[in-house]
Amino acid sequence: MNRLPEVETIDAGAHPVVLGAGALGTFNKRIGELDPSACFILGDENTLRHCLPELLAHVPRLRDAETIGVPVGEASKSLSVCSDIWQHLTDRAADREALLVNLGGGVVTDLGGFIAGTFKRGLHCVHVPTSLMGMVDAGIGGKTGIDLGGVKNVVGVFHDPLAVYVHVPFLKSLGKRELLNGVAEMIKHGLVRSAEHWNAVSNAPLHDLGALEPLVRRSAAIKAEVVKEDPREKGPRKLLNFGHTIGHGIEAYSWEGQQRALFHGEAIAIGMICEAWLSCRAGLLDRESNDRIAAQLLGLYKPFSLQGSEAHRIIELMRNDKKNSGGQFRFTLLTGIGSAQVDVPITAAQVREALEHYRLLVKEG
Ligand SMILES: NC(=O)c1ccc[n+]([C@@H]2O[C@H](COP(=O)([O-])OP(=O)(O)OC[C@H]3O[C@@H](n4cnc5c(N)ncnc54)[C@H](O)[C@@H]3O)[C@@H](O)[C@H]2O)c1
Repeated sequence: MNRLPEVETIDAGAHPVVLGAGALGTFNKRIGELDPSACFILGDENTLRHCLPELLAHVPRLRDAETIGVPVGEASKSLSVCSDIWQHLTDRAADREALLVNLGGGVVTDLGGFIAGTFKRGLHCVHVPTSLMGMVDAGIGGKTGIDLGGVKNVVGVFHDPLAVYVHVPFLKSLGKRELLNGVAEMIKHGLVRSAEHWNAVSNAPLHDLGALEPLVRRSAAIKAEVVKEDPREKGPRKLLNFGHTIGHGIEAYSWEGQQRALFHGEAIAIGMICEAWLSCRAGLLDRESNDRIAAQLLGLYKPFSLQGSEAHRIIELMRNDKKNSGGQFRFTLLTGIGSAQVDVPITAAQVREALEHYRLLVKEG
């Protein structure tokens, strides 16, 4: 097997993504060049416990940084948590030359990116993603945001970090369910951009970090390529929405219902099954590819049982989504394994059929 470079830098347009065994050493050097007026490290209870000691061992220039902890979970992406952090930074007289280091999964990088984008009209931040979802997706591309009234990411800004430093060994303390959560986005990257990557992710022993590292690099590179083409999500970046139009509706629905609340990636996996089927129905994707995609995703993720009557509420929740304008659903659909088409109009009746298709697959399975 080819040895991976010690440090690999991928250009995501407005910021670099630095990966490899030497990534955190590069970060240490960069702090020396930046010479910030103060450093703050934002993390949640898990990432401060499991990842902070390793971060400080590799980045000694952060040893005097002050840590800011937030509770674990999506609820931290809230106005009240932001208000506490803004107040904390004000009390410590943080200025625009200060550096905020966001050490965590997508919750911490979304929240910390938003804080950095808004405090004193913008301070420097760096993302150090610690979840697989953060490494291949959430940490890259400068989208930040918090939730409001149960609607995800409704308040936010684009604010690019100075850099994203990806240190794969952080994943050793991540639970299996959290790991699979990120795998869903890697599968999506393959489906919309690279059949080769999809095959590699399908066949890899995902619990083996050595085998996972090159796949993390490839997925991060795909996300970075797409973001670079369209930094403010005006067109081509919609490619990354595959699985997310129905997926977001299912995710929001799972939070309200009686059954278990789904993780983002778990809901996106269901969304991808439904949307691959819509691609097939629209004559864009061949039947065999559709069946392979469904078999792969059903093999990896636990089934979510739906009643036919629940489609109505899921579709209602989908209408709240930022991606859907003017009451029309616009989908990113597959034209093959490794390619996709954006802005395909789909009716609510077709969405209902796709949900019914998933319901029957799970029931028969
Ligand atoms: N901005 C974007 O482009 C973008 C893209 C995708 C997702 N997101 C957002 O990302 C969030 C989901 O990200 P996530 O799945 O990383 O969620 P998360 O940040 O809540 O992390 C998942 C869980 O793993 C724990 N964790 C993280 N790293 C760990 C480690 N190394 N060891 C042990 N535990 C660890 C966290 O404490 C948490 O309990 C959502 O809010 C979603 O909206 C944003």
